[in-house]
Amino acid sequence: MFTVPAIGQTGTLSHATTAGRGIMKVDGKHYRSIWRDPQSGQVRIIDQRWLPHEFRVVTLDSLDLFATAIRDMWVRGAPLIGATAAYGMAVRVGENPSDKALERARATLLDTRPTAVNLRWALDRVTKRLLPLPTRERARAAMRLAESIAEEDIEINRRIGRHGLDVIRTIAMNKPDGEPVRLLTHCNAGWIATVDWGTATSPMYHAHDAGIPIHVWVDETRPRNQGALTSWELGCHGIGHSYIVDNAGGHLMQHGLVDMVITGTDRTTANGDVCNKIGTYLKALAAHDNAIPFYVALPSPTIDWTVDDGVRNIPIEQRASSETTHVTGRTPDGSIRAVQVSPDGTEGSNPAFDVTPGRLITGLITERGVCEASGTGLAGLFPEFASA
Ligand code: MRU
Repeated sequence: MFTVPAIGQTGTLSHATTAGRGIMKVDGKHYRSIWRDPQSGQVRIIDQRWLPHEFRVVTLDSLDLFATAIRDMWVRGAPLIGATAAYGMAVRVGENPSDKALERARATLLDTRPTAVNLRWALDRVTKRLLPLPTRERARAAMRLAESIAEEDIEINRRIGRHGLDVIRTIAMNKPDGEPVRLLTHCNAGWIATVDWGTATSPMYHAHDAGIPIHVWVDETRPRNQGALTSWELGCHGIGHSYIVDNAGGHLMQHGLVDMVITGTDRTTANGDVCNKIGTYLKALAAHDNAIPFYVALPSPTIDWTVDDGVRNIPIEQRASSETTHVTGRTPDGSIRAVQVSPDGTEGSNPAFDVTPGRLITGLITERGVCEASGTGLAGLFPEFASA
């Protein structure tokens, strides 16, 4: 049976026990967002810069390329950033297994993006596993660990989906027969933000496949419009959805058009504060004002047990001003272009994440069940980490 390994421990999964549990299907073909090509052994990713307009796969074969892919968001989403970093370490250790190379690789990858704690979690796990080993054993151990981290991510997200399904089912039971449960989500906490299933989207896929009618309001999520990725995923799976501007959520909630909000998280503190894509906090405030349940899908590697106060202690990534002053999309001739939306010379300001205090959150949906967004709630589900 699958056991979710404790943070910092070596994974316990083998491919034989876990293969085929994914949900992602593009044009009828199963994918993961990162995988090892069985013939060449090379690491491949779905290059998210082109989605939803073009589906492109690229090979990452050097530490620099892995770092670029994370920093420039060819891959993105907290769990996928962690898994990619683990593969990046494995590729580098395959070239040079020395302590020095290992530590340099860790520092290079850690420097790519500051907010999603899965990055540090994965790098610490790899380093802790490899350093005690003789150098000749490191390359193989590193690749096996990267594969385990990817496998575990899939299983964690599948379990989040099962628990989230129970929440959605309860809401569905209180609605007139046949009326869809209307969910609102922010950013992309979907297949391609993880290795498979997604976190916030996993309950949606589970509900849809269980025959519960749902409709998803998808926030566009300026400035990078990750909502377009969510819309693409939901469309691939046949789930009804509407792409809405970020400012529409409060209005929809006031008019009784939202039954539940569910988002992902990039870092959740030990006392249940949730750091997620910029704008999440405003949705939580609006949900609170309208008594609408606000849930966060939380895989355990996204919990930062070292931090209590999210607003004060979580580093918030500041991204390029050009992401706010320009918008990228497809032009009528089919090419993908950025166009300027602000006046010449206007400077943008671009904090990429915000923190929603636990008091605004109805529940955290983890792989071990749903808990209150508080220290007590998290300690109840993860006593081994809370007490460490
Ligand atoms: O800047 P991004 O696109 O990496 O931000 C992604 C998010 O904020 C997601 O909601 C979060 O990582 C959870 S992904 C399962």
